[in-house]
Amino acid sequence: MTTRYPQVASRRIAALVLALFILVPAAASGQAIPSAQVLNRVVQEAHAKFRNVSDGANADYIPELAKVPSELFGVVIVTARGETYAAGDVDYAFTIQSVSKPFTAALVMQQQGSAAAVAEKIGVEPTGLPFNSIMATQILKPVSVNPLVNSGAIAAVSLVKAAGQEERFQAILDFYQRLAGDKLTVIEDVYRSEAATNQRNRAHSYILAVNDRIYSDPLEAVDVYTRQCSIGVTARQLAMMGATLANAGANPVSGERVLETRYVPKVLAIMMMAGFYNESGMWAYTAGLPAKTGVGGGIVAVVPGKMAIVGFSPRVNEAGNSVRAMKAIEYISDQLGVGVFGSGR
Ligand code: DON
Repeated sequence: MTTRYPQVASRRIAALVLALFILVPAAASGQAIPSAQVLNRVVQEAHAKFRNVSDGANADYIPELAKVPSELFGVVIVTARGETYAAGDVDYAFTIQSVSKPFTAALVMQQQGSAAAVAEKIGVEPTGLPFNSIMATQILKPVSVNPLVNSGAIAAVSLVKAAGQEERFQAILDFYQRLAGDKLTVIEDVYRSEAATNQRNRAHSYILAVNDRIYSDPLEAVDVYTRQCSIGVTARQLAMMGATLANAGANPVSGERVLETRYVPKVLAIMMMAGFYNESGMWAYTAGLPAKTGVGGGIVAVVPGKMAIVGFSPRVNEAGNSVRAMKAIEYISDQLGVGVFGSGR
């Protein structure tokens, strides 16, 4: 063939060499990450576009959350190379709340040395029900819960290896700090406020306990979970935690490998299916990104291999998801065409 069509063969070789020159350096240097100019533009636009949206209200079933200034609004992208693009209130520390849940699930996978342990001991099916649904917890078998609803998150905390309550919380805090590459502290007022009003979570924990699906003392697990939810993060810090997932488990700034790469797809899969509770389907349909919300107003979305996008705004909708943060991330995902199922533009 090469003797009959020498010019075709040489053109093929030339094309192959050209492709290698283009594709290999592109993959190696992460060229698929949009330029600094584009990232900065979409962050500024998302902030400007939605800053005047006032739909939703601060969560108030945790009384202290009602006191957080509702006007706060921040948008941040941190890339898998560690560059940050920010607009608005990105240095205000708010409680991480349910955005913590995938990170503790990640810690459990890593400590257990198996992603299967989370599937077996907690479950990974989306419930399609609100985050605190007692009904979802009651129909444990065959429909198990997942680590992103309250009951599954309490079960995840109970699986964190530690000699006791304080050590269990410290293991969680230490893991989050390594993900963020920064020191984090509990916002004590919110912790006390939730600890005094979390009867429903205690009910979840006892239902799990009678079904042999909680793995430490049930009330102790709720207390550690409540402290975990009260850890303060800025939008910037949360975005770095997300960027560590985007960067296959290594913090892009400190360089530390915090989570083994093999667990990252498992964590992202749960986020994709259940990160928005009973709104997870719509979120997949609109933003197309694995993400997690919290009633503190934070949302982190992960674009694997590229970046984390964080929105923070305290006003949440009925499902407990921040209205402006959702809009900002949906906008950025759409503008950049980075939804994991492809661009919908
Ligand atoms: O357990 C709770 O109810 C809160 N600490 C966390 C709930 C939450 O963030 C729901 N997310 N949107």
